[in-house]
Amino acid sequence: MCSEEEPVLNPAEGALRLGVLVSGRGSNLEAILDAIKQGKLSARVAVVISNKKDAPALERAARYQVPALFLDPTHYSRREEYDAAVLQQLKEFGVELVVLAGYMRLVTPTLIQPYHDRIINTHPSLLPAFPGMHAQRQALSYGVRVSGCTIHFVDEEMDHGPIIAQASVPVFEGDTIEQLSERILAEEHRLLPQVLQLYAEGKLTVDGRKVHIQESASTRSAR
Ligand code: GRF
Repeated sequence: MCSEEEPVLNPAEGALRLGVLVSGRGSNLEAILDAIKQGKLSARVAVVISNKKDAPALERAARYQVPALFLDPTHYSRREEYDAAVLQQLKEFGVELVVLAGYMRLVTPTLIQPYHDRIINTHPSLLPAFPGMHAQRQALSYGVRVSGCTIHFVDEEMDHGPIIAQASVPVFEGDTIEQLSERILAEEHRLLPQVLQLYAEGKLTVDGRKVHIQESASTRSAR
């Protein structure tokens, strides 16, 4: 029996299996894990893979009792070989959708092709402005009044694939990189789980550069 207070969705067996690739802090990973725990995201994190041994994201995964592993890039001479090893792990854990959550590494076609339109990235700028590293610093140096985050499908160009959702934040006079990053990060934490839920519900379709979102009352706020 379900009471009204109980979450509508449960991270049950059979829910969308996520593979989350990380490099650092892992606050976006935690936002995903929290959304699952709260019943707002009908998915499970099948595996977390880090390319950095000491990534705090690995500790966060452990706290949520989610399988997590470090794959050492220095053991592979080419990016493609590393991605083949990542791919093998994703397959072993039955991953259906890959999330790049603060993954500071370029992904190659070795990974992108088998997961075509099934890799989602979060980037801390309003793409196509300020792709690449240090997006917040780039935004401040350029003098923009508005920045934000972009959740997009990954294609073979960096920070380029079809845009699913964006959220804007103001840039204030005298903002530091840390202040702007924090403001953007709060939007990433809100938007990324929402986008993943749209995917889990089969509401996203990709048509060239355009992503169509099947409308419902609950999805309008994610746009
Ligand atoms: C996020 O702002 C993400 O967009 C960028 O790096 C940050 C990662 O933060 N690529 P975290 O590791 O999820 O805390």
